[in-house]
Amino acid sequence: MKNNIAVIILAAGKGERMKSRLPKVAHQVCGRPMLFYVLDLVRRVKIGRAVAVLGYKHELVRPLLGRNIKVAIQGQLLGTADAVKKALPQLKNFKGTVLILYADNPLLKEETIKKLLKYHIENNCAATLLTAKLDKPEGYGRILRDEYSSICGIVEEKDADDFQKGIKEINTGIICFDKDKLVRALAQVKANNRKKEYYLTDTVGILYRKGNLVESVNLGDVDEALGINSRVDLAKANGIMQKRINEALMKEGVTIVDSGSTFISQGAKIGRDTTIYPFTVIESDVKIGKHCYVGPFVHLRCGSYLDDNVVLGNFIEVVRSRISSGTLMKHFGYIGDAAVGHAVNIGAGCVTANFDGKQKHTTVIKDRAFLGSDTILVAPVKIGRGAKTGAGSVVVKNQNIPDGEVVVGIPARSIKIKTR
Ligand code: UD1
Ligand code: CA
Repeated sequence: MKNNIAVIILAAGKGERMKSRLPKVAHQVCGRPMLFYVLDLVRRVKIGRAVAVLGYKHELVRPLLGRNIKVAIQGQLLGTADAVKKALPQLKNFKGTVLILYADNPLLKEETIKKLLKYHIENNCAATLLTAKLDKPEGYGRILRDEYSSICGIVEEKDADDFQKGIKEINTGIICFDKDKLVRALAQVKANNRKKEYYLTDTVGILYRKGNLVESVNLGDVDEALGINSRVDLAKANGIMQKRINEALMKEGVTIVDSGSTFISQGAKIGRDTTIYPFTVIESDVKIGKHCYVGPFVHLRCGSYLDDNVVLGNFIEVVRSRISSGTLMKHFGYIGDAAVGHAVNIGAGCVTANFDGKQKHTTVIKDRAFLGSDTILVAPVKIGRGAKTGAGSVVVKNQNIPDGEVVVGIPARSIKIKTR
C-alpha cells in the first residue's frame, strides 16, 4: 500500500494463560509460529515500516522475525499502551497512519486490513477500530457507543459492569491511528485497575472526549477476530486455519478425501490431481508433485520432496528425503535422509536406518531398484540401479550394492543373478 503507513506489532506478552515456558507468539498454528501469520500479513499488505515490540523471552522471538522488521524491547510488561509507546522512538520522523496488530491474532485476512486502512485514510479519522459482533464476547474488550451511536470508548472485560458485559460488539485489538493523535492520547493514558496496566484501548475514550473522529469497520467473518490467549483458543485457531489451507489446496486441484483428518502445514506445496487420504500429516517445507497418492496414515516431515506419480501409504514416515517420479511405497515403513530414484519399488516394512546413535547418515536408492519386504538399509549405503534385495535382508553400513545385483540375507550378500 502507500508509504505513509507504519505498523506496530505487539508481541511482548508472556501469554500467562498459555501456561507455557515458551512465549505465546512462538506457539504454532498449522506448523508455523503464530507470529508468522501477522508478519506474512504485513508483507502481503506491503507496509514498508514495521516495528515489533518484544518482551518476554525476546531472544526466542527475535529469530522468528526475519529482516525488515525493527525491534523495540518492552522491559516490564505494563500493558498494550506502554508497548506502543516503546515502539514510537523507531517511528520518530514518521507522519501518517499507524496500524496496530497483535501477534496473537493469526486469522486476520489481507482484505480486512486493506479495507480498514482504506476506510481510515479516506475518512481522515483519528482512530479506526476493527470490531466484530460475537454471540459469545467473553474475554474481549467491549465497544461503548454514545447516544448517537458513535464510539466513545472501550471497556475491558475485567473492568466491565453487568450492562457492559452484555455488549456483543468487541474490540479485535486491530486499530489504525493518526500518528500525532496517537502520541498525544498515549501521554494521557493512566494506569488502569488493580493490575496497574496501561491500556491502549483507553486512547479511544481519550480521543472521543477531545472531539476527534473515531470510527469502526465491522468484521464480517468473526473467525478473524480470534485472539489466542489459551490452548483452547490455539486449538480453535488451528482448526480454522487448517480448513483454510485445505480448501485453498482443493481449489488448486488437490483431492483431500477427508479435510477434517488431514493436517497440512501452512506453506506445503501439493500438485494437481494428487489425492491425500485421511490421517495424513504434512509439515512445512514439503513438496508433493502431480498425480501422487498419499495416505492414509502418512507423515511427511520437513524436507520431504515427492516428484510426480509417487504413491506413498499406508503407515509411512518420510523426512529430509527426495522421492523421484513413479516410485511406489505402499505399505508401512520409514525413509529418512534418503535420495530415492525413479520407479523404485519399496516393499512392505522397509526402513532406512539413518541414525547410528550419534549421527544421521544418507541412503541412496537408484532408479528401478526393488526392495523386498522388510529390507533394512543401514546408512550410509547405496543401492544401485535396478538392484534387488530379498525379503528380510539387512544391507549393512557402507555397503554399495552395484547396479543390477541381487542381494539377500543378513548381512545382505550377492546371489549372482543378474536381473537383466
Ligand atoms: C486485548 C485488548 C482487548 C481486545 C483483545 C483482542 C487491551 C488492553 N485489550 O486484550 O480490548 O478485545 O486484545 O484480542 O489492549 N502485549 C504487549 N505488552 C504488554 C501486554 C500485551 O506487547 O505489556 C501484547 C501481547 O503480546 C499480545 C497483545 O499485546 O500480542 C494483546 O495482549 P493480551 O494480553 O493478549 O490482551 P487481551 O487481554 O487479549
Ligand atoms: Ca489476546
